[in-house]
Amino acid sequence: MTRDRYSSVREAPINPDHWYAVATTDEVRREPVGTVVWDRPVCLFRDSAGAVHALEDRCPHRLVRLSRGRVVGDGIECRYHGWRFGNDGQCLHVPGRDPAGIPETARAKGYPARDQDGFIWVFPGRPELAESVHPMPMPEWGDLDFIPSIAPLSCEAHFSFVIENLMDMYHDHLHQRHQPWSADALLEVNRGEGCVEARYSATAYYRIDRIWSALQLALPALRRPHPVPLVVTYEYPHWKARLGDEFTLYGVFCPEGPRRTRVHLVHYTSLHRLDSFRKAPAAVRRGVKRCLRNIARRLLKRLISQDVPMIEEEQRAYDTAPERRPLELNRALHAVQGLIGKEARKAAGEPARASQQTL
Ligand code: FES
Ligand SMILES: [Fe+2]
Repeated sequence: MTRDRYSSVREAPINPDHWYAVATTDEVRREPVGTVVWDRPVCLFRDSAGAVHALEDRCPHRLVRLSRGRVVGDGIECRYHGWRFGNDGQCLHVPGRDPAGIPETARAKGYPARDQDGFIWVFPGRPELAESVHPMPMPEWGDLDFIPSIAPLSCEAHFSFVIENLMDMYHDHLHQRHQPWSADALLEVNRGEGCVEARYSATAYYRIDRIWSALQLALPALRRPHPVPLVVTYEYPHWKARLGDEFTLYGVFCPEGPRRTRVHLVHYTSLHRLDSFRKAPAAVRRGVKRCLRNIARRLLKRLISQDVPMIEEEQRAYDTAPERRPLELNRALHAVQGLIGKEARKAAGEPARASQQTL
């Protein structure tokens, strides 16, 4: 059966020549952790200096998961027969065997890995391209004016359904009063190399200019609706939203397979309007940042718990009747679908089309 453009998007592979956010920095301590990027099992661990490494999560001996083993020195030891591997994946020790007799092929595949802005990033594509591409920058992570909150979103759906949910600001109907803004109108859609930007006008009620501003979330009487620009961007394969200068929200993606997607939402509350806070010594601000970390997590989790059933429902509808076509009115989503198709063609080594069309 030949695929039309719509089903090509719903079945699109990832372009592996990007950095994917496979875990939070806190999740990877010294001992190995198993994770998955687009059906590739990946084992993460830290060496004695704290640097993070990523190997294929398969021992070359009998293909059991290396993440069931333990870290020894700067490398990893398989749990089954105790073969030891350096952090580049080369087998260095086989119990009872002279090291000179260990074949070159006794090697676990390695992936470029980075620990940056609160996340462990892995590059599953061509390693020689890793240095020329960058993980999604989150400058707020190290800025004392911004308080991060992180919440995981995990769903049984293709990543295209997830990114479309995040780019479509008209679904505030679903979130009712829980979302601190509502989208009024889509103003423009801009396409760039590897990205789609959608600009909306919006109304927000949340403004952090007093120490007690957070109460606006709980007490509707304190809310003062005001117009704000809302800019959402798909910087393939990740997502970013900026609501005026009040806050920024990121969605860093790890598509685990064709029907399973993991995203971490990272919300940054800006305290830049709180003059007294900004004048405080850096040590105090650091302490406040540490204490308030994850302050918006409950809000994020509530929004996620409303989004996930809708996204999974879309996936089920597609799987049940793949010939049915939805009636999408938001042109930002047409551009998103175009970009997913373009990246999939790049991954397949197909030449780029002269002009990017929409579905
Ligand atoms: S399966 Fe890993 S050492 Fe045998
Ligand atoms: Fe949502």
